[in-house]
Amino acid sequence: MAILWHREEKEFHLHNDYLSYIITLLPDDSPALAYIGRPLSPEGRYGRLTLFEDRALSTHQPGLPPSFCLEYVPREYPTYGRGDFRFPALELVSENGMPLVVDLQYRAHRIYNGKPCLDELPATYCESDAEAESLTLVLEDRAHQIEVHLHYTLFAEHPIVARRVSIHNSGSKPFYLKRALSAVLDLDSADWDMLHFPGAWGRERHLVCKLLVPGLQSIGSSRGSSSAQHNPSAIFARPNTSETSGEAIGALLVYSGNFSIDAEVGSHGTTRLGLGINPFGFSWKLKSAETFETPEALFVYTAQGFGDMTHHIHRLLSRRLSRGQWRDRERPILINNWEATYFHFDEHKLLSIAHSAKDLGAELFVLDDGWFGRRNDDTSSLGDWMVNREKLPEGLESLARKITDLGLSFGLWIEPEMVSPDSDLYRKHPDWAIGSPLEKRTLGRNQLVLDMSRSEVVDYLFDTISGILSSAPISYIKWDMNRHITEPVSAGLPPDEQGEFSHRYILGVYRLYRRLTQAFPHILFESCSAGGNRFDAGMLAFAPQAWTSDDSDAIERLKIQWGTSFFYPPSAMGAHVSAVPNHQVGRITPLWTRAFVAFFGAFGYELDPEKLTEAEKAEVREQIAFYKQWRGLFQFGDFYRLEGGRSGDGSGNCVAWMSVSEDRRRAAVLVVQVLAQPNPGFSRLPLRGLDLSFNYQVRVRPAVPVKNEAALRYNEGLRRGDELAYVGLLLGGDGWNGVSRGDFASWLFTLEAY
Ligand code: GLA
Repeated sequence: MAILWHREEKEFHLHNDYLSYIITLLPDDSPALAYIGRPLSPEGRYGRLTLFEDRALSTHQPGLPPSFCLEYVPREYPTYGRGDFRFPALELVSENGMPLVVDLQYRAHRIYNGKPCLDELPATYCESDAEAESLTLVLEDRAHQIEVHLHYTLFAEHPIVARRVSIHNSGSKPFYLKRALSAVLDLDSADWDMLHFPGAWGRERHLVCKLLVPGLQSIGSSRGSSSAQHNPSAIFARPNTSETSGEAIGALLVYSGNFSIDAEVGSHGTTRLGLGINPFGFSWKLKSAETFETPEALFVYTAQGFGDMTHHIHRLLSRRLSRGQWRDRERPILINNWEATYFHFDEHKLLSIAHSAKDLGAELFVLDDGWFGRRNDDTSSLGDWMVNREKLPEGLESLARKITDLGLSFGLWIEPEMVSPDSDLYRKHPDWAIGSPLEKRTLGRNQLVLDMSRSEVVDYLFDTISGILSSAPISYIKWDMNRHITEPVSAGLPPDEQGEFSHRYILGVYRLYRRLTQAFPHILFESCSAGGNRFDAGMLAFAPQAWTSDDSDAIERLKIQWGTSFFYPPSAMGAHVSAVPNHQVGRITPLWTRAFVAFFGAFGYELDPEKLTEAEKAEVREQIAFYKQWRGLFQFGDFYRLEGGRSGDGSGNCVAWMSVSEDRRRAAVLVVQVLAQPNPGFSRLPLRGLDLSFNYQVRVRPAVPVKNEAALRYNEGLRRGDELAYVGLLLGGDGWNGVSRGDFASWLFTLEAY
């Protein structure tokens, strides 16, 4: 890995075994992207790749050749107003509202080992300077006394470039940022598909793929959180890219607030990608000598398909974005009481759930919503983080002790960012809620949102939550956020700084997370937002796992976990077995199918174990025992999407995926047949990631009883890696189908090198 500076040609070459990223200085001294792709020889010079020529209607700068028109050149941090009519990376307005036309010219640069840490924003990091090299380009607009630093980091072991920007006011007067993207990538072709992950509550991150067309296409959030509607991630792929071949660029924003990801196909077959804080509603007053830092953007390049992109980003996010004691540790098998009791429980009920769960082998009991204030439904008490003595007369500490005495760890649900209008906290501090107490405030799930942009609110929450965490043996926290933000203004900000609110809100959330995770490093945090409404890389920097979705139906989870898996590792995905009929969709699926799907994540149960029959309890006991033996593989193995249906989104009738251990000695393959088929033919399922020369002992476990043992056993026995990779597992046949005798059948294959 190296970052080279060729002074004569004014060219920077970020180079490792997987990637070249080449920046050159244009005739106006602005930096441009000459190339991103497979590694090119570090000996070569590539500045000529930024082509331009004189065209009708071209504009040009006095003193520069007429052929040099900003509309056609691939600038690294473009601005508007000098002939580039595509969306800009930066927009500024003067103190008195005058739009500023800014020329960002190269002034200096710095190349250094490692990667600096950020004070406020979450970001990837290095544990040693040898893991990455960084480049900072210092750009300047002298007339307006603005400095822009473009920061790049190339990781040694990954085709990943991290980018972010610092904007500094070196003048004496303030100006306003109207847009300050984290990165722009100007690609020299329009031949890309855009894959992204839209959704809603209960159906988060379903993969969609669309052809880029001329003009602007955009996704984003203006909800005050990254949201389930769109995820701050997208892939730009050559049209025939598959899991195993083809070129793609993954783009991921390490941010949990309002974001946008834009792609603009220009009139001459170029594509501009941009990502960062959503400019809609954003403005930031940058006073003299102040610096604004953007969130970090990650670009992952692959020439070998989506699978390769996934493996690199999974490793980076799980090892160098997540942090703390839980980063590399196997996650406990939990039982959560939410769907077992909702708000209606007492200590006796909780203890008997915990007792049964312990008996089945669970390791962590999580007490969900309803344990505080007068919280018997969702209309009250958020903010009153005192135990509800009617439900838990002996207090939280006593309950936690009784649970830990059973041999289970104890975990707790909180929703710190919220306040119910019917709460003591609101009665005392009505001004702490977002919006004005004198004006209409929109409710969401009957609750208001605390103004996390105010330091007194963050301080109060830190003291209150710390008090709870110190009061009882708590080893896990589920941190929820159950509504989006309306009336996005703050009583703590002057009128001309109100556009800062949404970003300041999320900075406040990060501040609280940082303080709590530092003060309680032994606690495992799981982020949650009405399921997976804030499942993003910003959150993963503090909470190494997130509740993937409130929808725990095994069949719906195929699409959700499929889409989520493109960027986020299985260790980050909370995945539980819940009761049937499923509480979200009413579907009845086999208990083993529910477990097989949830195995590929941070596994647990979300049901009342006391309601299970003895036969079901035996199955759950077996599931937990099995998972304990294999969880290192499920949580930290390389994840391969094998079969997702015709549209490749996990919605097919047959869905299959697998995990392979880093040493390739163990693997587990899941096959789900959504609807039973009459008299099907045979099919092959080639496996991936195995060592071709190893002999693997293959075993299969069906989710439902078997009629034709022979068909099932066909795959079992000692099979070489090459046969499993080139021929694969045998699926289908009437015997296969006959065994399942019903919908939602599934099979889990395990492979162990012999
Ligand atoms: C959200 C979460 C659920 C549960 C409830 C409690 O919806 O996603 O898992 O914790 O809140 O109110």
